[in-house]
Amino acid sequence: MDSEQTGSGEVTTPPAAAPVPPIAGDEYVEDPFADATLPGMPAPAMPDEQQDAERSDAPAADGPPAIPEPAELTEHGPARVIAMVNQKGGVGKTTSTVSLGAALAGYGRRVLLVDFDPQGAVAVSLGVNPNELDVTIYNLLTDPECHVGDVILSTDIVGLDLLPSNIDLSAAEVQLVSEVGREHSLARALRPVIPEYDIILIDCQPSLGLLTVNALTASEGVIIPMETEYFALRGVALLKDTIDKVASRLNPDLRIIGVLPTMFDPRTLHSREVLQTVQQAFGDAVFQTTISRTVKFPDAAVAGEPITAFAPGSAGADSYRQLAREVLAR
Ligand SMILES: Nc1ncnc2c1ncn2[C@@H]1O[C@H](COP(=O)(O)OP(=O)(O)OP(=O)(O)O)[C@@H](O)[C@H]1O
Ligand SMILES: [Mg+2]
Repeated sequence: MDSEQTGSGEVTTPPAAAPVPPIAGDEYVEDPFADATLPGMPAPAMPDEQQDAERSDAPAADGPPAIPEPAELTEHGPARVIAMVNQKGGVGKTTSTVSLGAALAGYGRRVLLVDFDPQGAVAVSLGVNPNELDVTIYNLLTDPECHVGDVILSTDIVGLDLLPSNIDLSAAEVQLVSEVGREHSLARALRPVIPEYDIILIDCQPSLGLLTVNALTASEGVIIPMETEYFALRGVALLKDTIDKVASRLNPDLRIIGVLPTMFDPRTLHSREVLQTVQQAFGDAVFQTTISRTVKFPDAAVAGEPITAFAPGSAGADSYRQLAREVLAR
């Protein structure tokens, strides 16, 4: 049976008692650390000897301090603008934008999700058909008469708004090339609504082209979702180089807020090894929170709901709530 379809791999805490059977196939190795505790997770009760063995291989079993509950807000804004960037496709950028945004809204934050990918997947994940919209971010970028307030849509989630895009946005990239101040177009467009939101999350397309440079120029921080698989770090040097260039030439405030390991499978040695490699490469920049692989995420996207609404009690929803607390604490 496919492990993903069982949904049993979604938990970010180790499976309680029953050991998970090995999965057929060379890439999955059953190993003595199958229940190893991961950063940010409570350590399960176990004999001392076994704990020592796990400490030698897995991340610290005693774990970092708990992430504080965010303070309630009495007033809103100005917004922190955060770009979700990785030029690698399918690593969980859109899923993380929607899920983190909804989790932040759940903590009373006013959140705007900017769909900065012509695929329009943020809209789809929130149950909106982007191809039926008259105005999108494309109009905002190319028509000086268009105001951001005319494009923003409210969603079914209290506190969560959407600045949608669709395939038209790919034409904007071509049109912007000849503009003066072309890298600042998104920053300019967002400026009027900065006072109205607490957090603005920009979902980027899988490229480091002009649209992504616009997102980086408009942002104070970057979150890098990274799939925990073999080639996770491939292309990361180029991504860091792009972030450094934008920081030095266009936006001195830009910093990496965190690297988010996604599609993690705590039961496989492979997944845990990749996590360790990412932690060695990025150190403290890696979030304590890891997002496990579970079919609940694609299911939620098909239902047009964030995971926190589709399956609020699931481990996936829990993980994004924890991520929201981490982001607010950083
Ligand atoms: N933790 C997860 N577990 C299982 N499936 C996931 C997880 N996160 C995302 N997915 C699924 O993986 C696919 C790719 O995710 P997503 O669209 O979020 O990636 P992306 O980085 O935005 O992709 P693109 O680069 O094409 O924009 C989607 O079908 C999504 O539902
Ligand atoms: Mg995407």
